[in-house]
Amino acid sequence: MEHPRTEPTLPAPRGPLSAAVIAHLRGDGPLPLPHDVARAPVYGDDLQLALYLCYELHYRGFDGVPPEREWDPDLLRTRAALEERFGSALRADATVHDDVDEALGTLLVEPVDGTGVSHFLRDKGELWHVREYAAQRSLYHLKEADPHAWVLPRLWGRAKAAMAAVEFDECGGGRPDRVHAGLYADLMRDLGLDTTYGRYLDAACAELLVTVNLMSLFGLHRSLRGALVGHFATVEITSSPGSRRLAEAMRRTGAGPAAEHFYDEHVEADAVHEQVVRHDVIGGLMESEPHLARDIAFGIDATVFVEDRLGDRLLADWGAGRSSMRTPLDVPDVTPVP
Ligand SMILES: [Fe+2]
Ligand SMILES: [Fe+2]
Repeated sequence: MEHPRTEPTLPAPRGPLSAAVIAHLRGDGPLPLPHDVARAPVYGDDLQLALYLCYELHYRGFDGVPPEREWDPDLLRTRAALEERFGSALRADATVHDDVDEALGTLLVEPVDGTGVSHFLRDKGELWHVREYAAQRSLYHLKEADPHAWVLPRLWGRAKAAMAAVEFDECGGGRPDRVHAGLYADLMRDLGLDTTYGRYLDAACAELLVTVNLMSLFGLHRSLRGALVGHFATVEITSSPGSRRLAEAMRRTGAGPAAEHFYDEHVEADAVHEQVVRHDVIGGLMESEPHLARDIAFGIDATVFVEDRLGDRLLADWGAGRSSMRTPLDVPDVTPVP
Protein backbone atom coordinates (compact mmCIF):
# COMPACT_ATOMS: atom_id res chain seq x y z
CA MET A 1 0.00 0.00 0.00
CA GLU A 2 1.26 3.50 -0.86
CA HIS A 3 2.19 5.79 1.98
CA PRO A 4 1.53 9.47 1.48
CA ARG A 5 4.25 11.40 -0.36
CA THR A 6 4.61 14.48 1.82
CA GLU A 7 7.66 16.36 2.98
CA PRO A 8 8.10 16.08 6.72
CA THR A 9 7.92 19.08 9.00
CA LEU A 10 11.11 20.32 10.61
CA PRO A 11 11.57 18.83 14.09
CA ALA A 12 12.09 20.68 17.36
CA PRO A 13 15.73 21.51 18.19
CA ARG A 14 17.61 19.48 20.82
CA GLY A 15 20.32 22.06 21.60
CA PRO A 16 22.26 24.94 20.02
CA LEU A 17 23.64 23.02 17.00
CA SER A 18 20.31 21.67 15.83
CA ALA A 19 18.61 24.98 16.66
CA ALA A 20 21.07 26.84 14.41
CA VAL A 21 20.66 24.35 11.53
CA ILE A 22 16.85 24.55 11.80
CA ALA A 23 16.94 28.36 11.85
CA HIS A 24 19.23 28.34 8.82
CA LEU A 25 16.90 25.99 6.96
CA ARG A 26 14.04 28.34 7.75
CA GLY A 27 16.19 31.07 6.20
CA ASP A 28 16.85 33.25 9.19
CA GLY A 29 19.92 32.31 11.14
CA PRO A 30 23.69 31.75 11.16
CA LEU A 31 25.02 28.21 11.17
CA PRO A 32 26.88 26.77 14.19
CA LEU A 33 30.46 27.89 14.72
CA PRO A 34 33.28 25.30 14.64
CA HIS A 35 33.85 25.56 18.39
CA ASP A 36 30.16 24.80 19.00
CA VAL A 37 30.54 21.66 16.90
CA ALA A 38 33.74 20.72 18.76
CA ARG A 39 32.10 21.04 22.17
CA ALA A 40 28.91 19.03 21.67
CA PRO A 41 28.81 15.36 22.79
CA VAL A 42 29.39 13.45 19.58
CA TYR A 43 26.67 10.80 20.01
CA GLY A 44 24.32 13.20 21.78
CA ASP A 45 20.88 14.39 20.73
CA ASP A 46 21.97 17.83 19.54
CA LEU A 47 24.87 16.90 17.25
CA GLN A 48 23.13 13.84 15.87
CA LEU A 49 19.94 15.76 15.09
CA ALA A 50 21.94 18.55 13.41
CA LEU A 51 23.66 15.94 11.23
CA TYR A 52 20.38 14.13 10.56
CA LEU A 53 18.85 17.41 9.31
CA CYS A 54 21.76 17.98 6.92
CA TYR A 55 21.44 14.44 5.56
CA GLU A 56 17.68 14.47 5.21
CA LEU A 57 17.98 17.16 2.53
CA HIS A 58 19.39 14.40 0.28
CA TYR A 59 16.32 12.20 0.82
CA ARG A 60 12.93 13.91 1.13
CA GLY A 61 13.89 17.32 2.54
CA PHE A 62 11.52 19.26 4.75
CA ASP A 63 8.32 21.16 4.24
CA GLY A 64 9.09 24.81 3.57
CA VAL A 65 12.80 24.21 2.86
CA PRO A 66 13.71 24.82 -0.82
CA PRO A 67 15.14 21.63 -2.37
CA GLU A 68 18.15 23.65 -3.58
CA ARG A 69 19.32 23.80 0.03
CA GLU A 70 20.69 20.29 -0.53
CA TRP A 71 23.76 21.92 -2.11
CA ASP A 72 23.98 25.03 0.10
CA PRO A 73 27.78 25.41 0.49
CA ASP A 74 27.55 26.84 4.01
CA LEU A 75 25.39 23.95 5.12
CA LEU A 76 27.75 21.46 3.46
CA ARG A 77 30.64 23.03 5.39
CA THR A 78 28.71 22.54 8.63
CA ARG A 79 27.86 18.98 7.63
CA ALA A 80 31.55 18.30 7.00
CA ALA A 81 32.47 19.57 10.49
CA LEU A 82 29.79 17.36 12.08
CA GLU A 83 30.90 14.37 9.99
CA GLU A 84 34.51 14.90 10.96
CA ARG A 85 33.59 14.55 14.63
CA PHE A 86 31.27 11.62 14.01
CA GLY A 87 33.68 9.71 11.78
CA SER A 88 36.65 10.23 14.13
CA ALA A 89 34.63 9.06 17.12
CA LEU A 90 33.52 5.92 15.29
CA ARG A 91 37.08 5.05 14.29
CA ALA A 92 38.19 5.54 17.90
CA ASP A 93 35.29 3.73 19.58
CA ALA A 94 34.35 0.81 17.33
CA THR A 95 36.29 -2.44 17.53
CA VAL A 96 38.68 -2.39 14.59
CA HIS A 97 39.39 -5.47 12.52
CA ASP A 98 41.89 -5.16 9.69
CA ASP A 99 40.57 -8.31 8.10
CA VAL A 100 37.12 -8.55 6.50
CA ASP A 101 36.67 -12.25 7.35
CA GLU A 102 37.44 -11.59 11.00
CA ALA A 103 34.97 -8.71 11.10
CA LEU A 104 32.33 -10.86 9.37
CA GLY A 105 33.07 -13.70 11.79
CA THR A 106 31.85 -11.60 14.72
CA LEU A 107 28.43 -11.41 13.06
CA LEU A 108 27.99 -15.14 12.89
CA VAL A 109 28.19 -15.80 16.59
CA GLU A 110 24.59 -16.37 17.63
CA PRO A 111 24.53 -16.71 21.41
CA VAL A 112 22.21 -19.50 22.58
CA ASP A 113 20.94 -17.42 25.48
CA GLY A 114 20.81 -14.26 23.35
CA THR A 115 20.22 -10.99 25.11
CA GLY A 116 19.63 -8.59 22.21
CA VAL A 117 16.55 -6.53 21.45
CA SER A 118 15.03 -9.13 19.12
CA HIS A 119 15.46 -11.79 21.83
CA PHE A 120 13.77 -9.51 24.35
CA LEU A 121 10.88 -8.76 22.01
CA ARG A 122 10.43 -12.44 21.12
CA ASP A 123 10.55 -13.70 24.70
CA LYS A 124 8.89 -11.02 26.81
CA GLY A 125 8.12 -7.98 24.68
CA GLU A 126 4.72 -6.40 25.14
CA LEU A 127 2.82 -4.56 22.46
CA TRP A 128 4.06 -1.18 23.68
CA HIS A 129 7.69 -2.34 23.28
CA VAL A 130 6.97 -3.55 19.76
CA ARG A 131 5.28 -0.25 18.88
CA GLU A 132 8.21 1.79 20.23
CA TYR A 133 10.66 -0.32 18.29
CA ALA A 134 8.64 -0.01 15.07
CA ALA A 135 8.05 3.73 15.42
CA GLN A 136 11.74 4.51 15.95
CA ARG A 137 13.01 2.12 13.29
CA SER A 138 10.65 3.80 10.81
CA LEU A 139 13.27 6.52 10.44
CA TYR A 140 15.21 3.97 8.43
CA HIS A 141 12.65 1.47 7.20
CA LEU A 142 10.47 4.06 5.45
CA LYS A 143 13.56 4.73 3.34
CA GLU A 144 14.83 1.16 3.48
CA ALA A 145 17.77 0.50 1.14
CA ASP A 146 17.87 4.14 -0.05
CA PRO A 147 21.23 5.07 1.56
CA HIS A 148 22.77 1.99 -0.02
CA ALA A 149 21.56 2.91 -3.51
CA TRP A 150 24.09 5.75 -3.56
CA VAL A 151 26.93 3.26 -3.80
CA LEU A 152 25.86 1.89 -7.19
CA PRO A 153 27.73 4.42 -9.40
CA ARG A 154 30.83 3.74 -7.28
CA LEU A 155 30.96 0.02 -7.97
CA TRP A 156 31.45 -1.92 -11.15
CA GLY A 157 31.56 -5.47 -12.47
CA ARG A 158 30.54 -8.27 -10.12
CA ALA A 159 30.04 -6.02 -7.09
CA LYS A 160 27.79 -3.63 -9.04
CA ALA A 161 25.66 -6.38 -10.58
CA ALA A 162 25.15 -8.09 -7.21
CA MET A 163 24.46 -4.87 -5.31
CA ALA A 164 21.90 -3.82 -7.92
CA ALA A 165 20.23 -7.25 -7.71
CA VAL A 166 19.74 -6.94 -3.94
CA GLU A 167 18.59 -3.35 -4.20
CA PHE A 168 16.08 -4.44 -6.87
CA ASP A 169 14.58 -6.87 -4.35
CA GLU A 170 14.53 -4.21 -1.61
CA CYS A 171 12.65 -1.93 -4.01
CA GLY A 172 10.01 -4.56 -4.71
CA GLY A 173 11.50 -6.37 -7.72
CA GLY A 174 9.42 -4.23 -10.04
CA ARG A 175 6.24 -4.56 -7.95
CA PRO A 176 5.13 -1.47 -6.05
CA ASP A 177 3.19 -3.61 -3.55
CA ARG A 178 6.45 -5.34 -2.60
CA VAL A 179 8.66 -2.32 -1.95
CA HIS A 180 10.13 -3.07 1.48
CA ALA A 181 9.58 0.51 2.67
CA GLY A 182 5.92 0.08 1.75
CA LEU A 183 5.70 -3.27 3.55
CA TYR A 184 7.05 -1.46 6.59
CA ALA A 185 4.31 1.17 6.33
CA ASP A 186 1.81 -1.72 6.34
CA LEU A 187 3.46 -3.08 9.50
CA MET A 188 3.11 0.35 11.12
CA ARG A 189 -0.56 0.51 10.19
CA ASP A 190 -1.13 -2.85 11.92
CA LEU A 191 0.40 -1.33 15.03
CA GLY A 192 -1.74 1.81 14.88
CA LEU A 193 1.26 3.98 14.07
CA ASP A 194 1.35 7.02 11.79
CA THR A 195 3.05 6.07 8.51
CA THR A 196 3.88 9.65 7.53
CA TYR A 197 7.56 9.83 6.57
CA GLY A 198 9.55 11.46 9.38
CA ARG A 199 6.61 11.42 11.79
CA TYR A 200 8.66 9.98 14.66
CA LEU A 201 11.81 12.04 14.20
CA ASP A 202 11.04 14.23 17.22
CA ALA A 203 10.34 11.20 19.38
CA ALA A 204 13.31 9.04 18.38
CA CYS A 205 16.23 8.67 20.79
CA ALA A 206 19.75 9.83 19.89
CA GLU A 207 21.00 6.25 19.61
CA LEU A 208 18.50 5.65 16.81
CA LEU A 209 19.56 8.81 14.97
CA VAL A 210 23.16 7.55 15.15
CA THR A 211 22.22 4.33 13.33
CA VAL A 212 20.57 6.22 10.46
CA ASN A 213 23.30 8.87 10.28
CA LEU A 214 25.88 6.11 9.93
CA MET A 215 24.33 4.84 6.69
CA SER A 216 23.90 8.33 5.30
CA LEU A 217 27.54 9.09 6.09
CA PHE A 218 28.72 5.96 4.32
CA GLY A 219 26.26 6.33 1.45
CA LEU A 220 27.04 9.94 0.61
CA HIS A 221 30.83 9.61 0.40
CA ARG A 222 32.52 7.80 -2.44
CA SER A 223 35.58 7.61 -0.21
CA LEU A 224 33.53 5.45 2.18
CA ARG A 225 32.14 3.04 -0.45
CA GLY A 226 33.95 0.16 1.23
CA ALA A 227 32.37 1.05 4.58
CA LEU A 228 28.94 1.30 2.92
CA VAL A 229 29.33 -2.21 1.55
CA GLY A 230 30.42 -3.36 5.02
CA HIS A 231 27.30 -1.78 6.48
CA PHE A 232 25.04 -3.43 3.92
CA ALA A 233 26.65 -6.80 4.52
CA THR A 234 26.13 -6.46 8.27
CA VAL A 235 22.46 -5.62 7.84
CA GLU A 236 21.85 -8.49 5.43
CA ILE A 237 23.83 -11.10 7.39
CA THR A 238 22.23 -10.31 10.75
CA SER A 239 18.73 -9.74 9.35
CA SER A 240 17.57 -13.29 8.77
CA PRO A 241 17.92 -14.64 12.34
CA GLY A 242 16.86 -11.29 13.84
CA SER A 243 13.80 -11.15 11.57
CA ARG A 244 12.79 -14.66 12.61
CA ARG A 245 12.73 -13.57 16.24
CA LEU A 246 10.88 -10.36 15.40
CA ALA A 247 8.29 -12.29 13.37
CA GLU A 248 7.72 -14.46 16.46
CA ALA A 249 7.41 -11.31 18.57
CA MET A 250 4.78 -9.94 16.17
CA ARG A 251 2.81 -13.21 16.35
CA ARG A 252 3.02 -13.45 20.13
CA THR A 253 1.91 -9.86 20.71
CA GLY A 254 -0.87 -10.06 18.11
CA ALA A 255 0.64 -7.18 16.14
CA GLY A 256 -1.19 -8.16 12.95
CA PRO A 257 -0.68 -9.95 9.63
CA ALA A 258 1.26 -7.18 7.82
CA ALA A 259 3.59 -6.84 10.82
CA GLU A 260 4.28 -10.58 10.71
CA HIS A 261 4.67 -10.50 6.95
CA PHE A 262 7.36 -7.81 6.98
CA TYR A 263 9.66 -9.93 9.13
CA ASP A 264 8.68 -13.28 7.55
CA GLU A 265 9.59 -11.77 4.18
CA HIS A 266 13.02 -10.75 5.53
CA VAL A 267 13.75 -14.21 6.95
CA GLU A 268 13.51 -15.59 3.41
CA ALA A 269 14.84 -12.68 1.37
CA ASP A 270 17.83 -11.90 3.55
CA ALA A 271 19.01 -15.50 3.71
CA VAL A 272 19.53 -15.11 -0.04
CA HIS A 273 20.80 -11.53 0.16
CA GLU A 274 23.39 -12.61 2.72
CA GLN A 275 24.96 -15.01 0.25
CA VAL A 276 24.88 -12.53 -2.63
CA VAL A 277 26.37 -9.72 -0.54
CA ARG A 278 29.04 -11.93 0.99
CA HIS A 279 30.21 -13.64 -2.20
CA ASP A 280 29.59 -11.13 -4.93
CA VAL A 281 29.31 -7.63 -3.42
CA ILE A 282 32.15 -8.00 -0.90
CA GLY A 283 33.97 -10.61 -2.99
CA GLY A 284 33.66 -8.52 -6.13
CA LEU A 285 34.79 -5.32 -4.44
CA MET A 286 37.76 -7.05 -2.80
CA GLU A 287 38.74 -8.40 -6.18
CA SER A 288 38.56 -5.07 -7.99
CA GLU A 289 39.73 -2.84 -5.12
CA PRO A 290 41.62 -4.94 -2.57
CA HIS A 291 42.90 -1.81 -0.83
CA LEU A 292 39.35 -1.25 0.48
CA ALA A 293 39.48 -4.28 2.78
CA ARG A 294 40.07 -2.19 5.90
CA ASP A 295 37.21 0.14 5.00
CA ILE A 296 34.83 -2.78 4.52
CA ALA A 297 35.87 -4.12 7.94
CA PHE A 298 35.40 -0.65 9.43
CA GLY A 299 31.86 -0.49 7.99
CA ILE A 300 31.04 -3.82 9.66
CA ASP A 301 32.62 -2.84 12.98
CA ALA A 302 31.01 0.60 13.07
CA THR A 303 27.58 -0.89 12.33
CA VAL A 304 27.94 -3.42 15.15
CA PHE A 305 29.05 -0.61 17.47
CA VAL A 306 26.09 1.70 16.78
CA GLU A 307 23.55 -1.14 16.79
CA ASP A 308 24.87 -2.38 20.14
CA ARG A 309 24.54 1.14 21.56
CA LEU A 310 20.93 1.30 20.38
CA GLY A 311 20.20 -2.14 21.82
CA ASP A 312 21.71 -1.16 25.17
CA ARG A 313 19.59 1.98 25.28
CA LEU A 314 16.33 0.20 24.46
CA LEU A 315 16.94 -2.65 26.89
CA ALA A 316 18.03 -0.31 29.70
CA ASP A 317 14.88 1.76 29.36
CA TRP A 318 12.54 -1.19 28.93
CA GLY A 319 14.27 -3.06 31.75
CA ALA A 320 13.49 -0.10 34.01
CA GLY A 321 9.88 -0.13 32.81
CA ARG A 322 10.11 3.21 31.02
CA SER A 323 9.74 4.42 27.45
CA SER A 324 12.84 4.54 25.24
CA MET A 325 11.38 7.46 23.28
CA ARG A 326 11.71 11.16 23.92
CA THR A 327 7.94 11.40 23.66
CA PRO A 328 6.13 8.16 24.55
CA LEU A 329 3.56 6.99 22.02
CA ASP A 330 -0.10 7.67 22.51
CA VAL A 331 -2.33 4.63 22.56
CA PRO A 332 -3.82 4.40 20.03
CA ASP A 333 -1.79 6.63 17.76
CA VAL A 334 -3.18 8.46 14.75
CA THR A 335 -3.49 6.27 11.68
CA PRO A 336 -3.70 8.27 8.46
CA VAL A 337 -6.21 7.42 5.79
CA PRO A 338 -4.36 5.05 3.42
FE1 LIG B 1 14.45 -5.27 3.12
FE1 LIG C 1 17.68 -7.59 2.34
